[in-house]
Amino acid sequence: MAIHEIRKYPDPVLKAKTGRVDRFDESLERLIKDMIETMYAAAGVGLAANQIGVPLQLAVIDISSREEGGPKHPVIVLINPEILEQKGSVVADEGCLSIPDFSESVKRSAWVKVRALDRAGKPFEIEGEGLLAKALQHEIDHLNGLLFVDRLSPLKKNIFRRRWKKAMAETA
Ligand code: NI
Repeated sequence: MAIHEIRKYPDPVLKAKTGRVDRFDESLERLIKDMIETMYAAAGVGLAANQIGVPLQLAVIDISSREEGGPKHPVIVLINPEILEQKGSVVADEGCLSIPDFSESVKRSAWVKVRALDRAGKPFEIEGEGLLAKALQHEIDHLNGLLFVDRLSPLKKNIFRRRWKKAMAETA
């Protein structure tokens, strides 16, 4: 297994369209294991394949480190996922491993039901609210080339761009 470099905004791979996974072989299994290891190494709760430069519809989520009273959700592997249903709306703080040192409140559905394939290619459905709903929507957005900053109001988007430019100027 290997830890991969996480691509950072504004890397174009984060905006590119991802392709469906249609081969469930050893190389896919290796990629999934690498993604899980990379997510843990970065202390993230989710990672999409395009964040390590692989434009495939594949994401991993593990919110167990943030769950109170012991983990209820083991690591989730989402392949070719789609949102089937969504309800309500909630505004909560969000961040992303591809946009370090920036978080902002984002409006999302409060509950979602998602259909995906598991690592063996078997279809399954998962539904969730709270952090799980947020993570599911955030990762599926990644696979559609969307970052959480794309969902901010024009005003907050400007704040983000200004802060990002400043950070770039400081590290240059
Ligand atoms: Ni992210």
